[in-house]
Amino acid sequence: MYILAILGSRNPDGQTARATDALLKGAASKGATSDKIFLPACQLERCRQCEDNGWGLCRTEGRCVIDDDFAAITEKLRAADLVVFANPVYFCGLSESLHAYLNRLGRIGWIRENARPGIQNKPVVGIAVAGGGGAGSYECVRRMRMIFGTCRFDVVDIVPARRQNLDAKCRALEATGEWLMDRG
Ligand SMILES: Cc1cc2nc3c(=O)[nH]c(=O)nc-3n(C[C@H](O)[C@H](O)[C@H](O)COP(=O)(O)O)c2cc1C
Repeated sequence: MYILAILGSRNPDGQTARATDALLKGAASKGATSDKIFLPACQLERCRQCEDNGWGLCRTEGRCVIDDDFAAITEKLRAADLVVFANPVYFCGLSESLHAYLNRLGRIGWIRENARPGIQNKPVVGIAVAGGGGAGSYECVRRMRMIFGTCRFDVVDIVPARRQNLDAKCRALEATGEWLMDRG
């Protein structure tokens, strides 16, 4: 199984990466291979809402007009057997980079059938890591559930974590990685 992890944090040594690595470690122990993409390091614009009515090529052709890293990231996503979206909780919500990516993916996947192969029914796991008070992780779970639905993903799990319980959550995420491999 090939797992692609897409992170809304730019810090490879941060809490979001730590939680992600725990899941990938568990999966690797059962033979999975993986890659990580740190979205803030990518060239990734927000949706331009191209036309006056708020739509654009996403509606008519199932692709995005913006020439940045969106298409390359999405090709990697299509090729993955499972995708992990890991989000650092910012202002009780999704990080700007993950929000921008998922908004654009949802636009092409929701509307145009030709855009859906490799996106629709893709098994995904969400992780929301709050480094402050912590309660924002639950809002991120709710938001991820909504936007994953727009992308037409098969949502396997969405895990809230906070600074205070990160050690315990990492152990649980490692076990989740093993379980993902056992379930096939
Ligand atoms: C702009 C910004 C907003 C943040 N807002 C919240 C918040 O609302 N609630 C919270 O618990 N932590 C908040 N944090 C802390 C982040 O959740 C924490 O920095 C993040 O989990 C660390 O992830 P990283 O180590 O992967 O970068 C915020 C951090 C930043 C930079």
